[in-house]
Amino acid sequence: MKKQHIDIEVESYNNITELPADEQELVKLAEEAAKNAYAKYSHFFVGAAVKLANGEIITGNNQENNAYPSGLCAERVALFYANAKYPDVPVTKMAIVAIYKDDILQEPVAPCGACRQVMLETEVRFDTPIRTILVGKSKILAMNDIKSMLPLSFNFDF
Ligand code: THU
Repeated sequence: MKKQHIDIEVESYNNITELPADEQELVKLAEEAAKNAYAKYSHFFVGAAVKLANGEIITGNNQENNAYPSGLCAERVALFYANAKYPDVPVTKMAIVAIYKDDILQEPVAPCGACRQVMLETEVRFDTPIRTILVGKSKILAMNDIKSMLPLSFNFDF
């Protein structure tokens, strides 16, 4: 038996003002999107803002449903819409913000496994890394691609 360690590089920031201007804007739009989430059941409001290579920004938020599994996370709402509207344009950046009880979470919100799989597909599909910014009030994390967020991922090479 051999043990292996998988390292991922994560940038950590104390404040969004440390991010470049375009990313601060992306974070602001993700926060705005979170406020419009339909989160009637969990009261957990998530917003995602996606930047495309053509400069367009698409936002999305979680959409819940009385039949719980029929809902969808903010990340997939935003990404699917971006890919539906601009099927040939790579996604370059993504910011994710979550609000609970009228406040942004203290710790950075992390996308669920299903969203990571969809994010990875978009990254692979366009062969363009997606820089992802996970926002918390006391800390902001950023990663330069999705594959580091989903090591040992499923793919068609299998
Ligand atoms: N949610 C997201 O929108 N994104 C995530 O990455 C995790 C969870 C949503 C799904 C559901 O509407 C609510 O947050 C509570 O799980």
